[in-house]
Amino acid sequence: MAVRKFSEKKLTDAVLHSIRRTRNPRLKKVMSSFIRHLHSFVRDVKPTQEEWMRGIEFLTSTGHWCSGKRQEYILLSDTLGVSMLVDALNYQAKSGATQSTVLGPFHREKAPKYPLGASIAKKKSDGVPCLVTGTIRDAKGRPVAGAKLDVWEAGADGFYDSQKGDEMNLRGVFHADAKGRFHFRCVRPEYYPVPNDGPVGKMLNATGRHPMRPPHLHFWITAKGYKPLITHLFVKGGKYLDSDAVFGVKPELIIDFRKGRDGVAKANYDFVLMKAGRK
Ligand code: BEZ
Ligand code: FE
Repeated sequence: MAVRKFSEKKLTDAVLHSIRRTRNPRLKKVMSSFIRHLHSFVRDVKPTQEEWMRGIEFLTSTGHWCSGKRQEYILLSDTLGVSMLVDALNYQAKSGATQSTVLGPFHREKAPKYPLGASIAKKKSDGVPCLVTGTIRDAKGRPVAGAKLDVWEAGADGFYDSQKGDEMNLRGVFHADAKGRFHFRCVRPEYYPVPNDGPVGKMLNATGRHPMRPPHLHFWITAKGYKPLITHLFVKGGKYLDSDAVFGVKPELIIDFRKGRDGVAKANYDFVLMKAGRK
C-alpha cells in the first residue's frame, strides 16, 4: 500500500484513526480528547524545538521530584487548578451539604486513632492550642453517629510532619459520638507555603505567583452510606484567603478560630454529609 503524503492538517485525524480499535470505551474517549486537545495546544502555541524540549524536561523533572514523601504531580495539578476542577465536577454539594475542597499531598494513611477530646499536637512548639467542636449531620439534620474524622494540619513552622521525618504529628483519627458530636484539640492553623523548591516552585515563580496557602485544617470525613467529604476549615481573617496557591478556598468553609482569654483558639463547625449513591 502506498504511504500517504504527510499532511500537518490531517495529522490529528491520523492519530485519532490509529486508536479506533481501543476496546475500553472510556479509555477511547479519554485518549481521543487528550490527543485533540494536545494537538490544538501545540497548534496554538507553535513551540520551537527548544521550547518543546523545555516542556519535556519540565515534566521529566516533575516526575524525578516525586518520591514516597513528595508528589510533585499532585502539586502541579493543585497549582494549576486542576485538582479543584476535578473535585468540583465530582462533588457537588447539594441542599446545605458541606462544600468539599482539595485533598493535597499531605494526607497519610494510618494516622493515630484518638478518643474524642484528645490533642493531635504532640509538642508545645506546634502552635497556639486550639479546640475544635461540632457535629456531623445529614441533609435532614439527623446526626451521623460514629462518623470517622481524619484530620491533619501543618504546625506553626509551616511544615507537615512528613516534611520533617517519619514521626506522625498534627494528624489523627476520631469518631463522632452517638449524637454525631465531635471535639478535639489541635493548634490554630497558620498560613504556609506549598513545597516550592522543585519544578512547580519554578513555575510559580516564573508566572509571578506566590506559593502560599491560607491557614486551614484538613478533614476527611467518612461514614457508611454517605459520600466521603474531603474538605478544610479556613481561619477567618487569615492571610492569603483571596490568593490561595491551589484555589481551594470556598467562603462557606471560612470560620472563626477566636483565641479566648485562656489562650486557646476555639472553632465550631457542623458538617453536613450527602447520602451515597446520589448525583
Ligand atoms: C495542603 O493543603 O496540604 C496542600 C494542598 C495542595 C498542595 C499542597 C499542599
Ligand atoms: Fe494543608
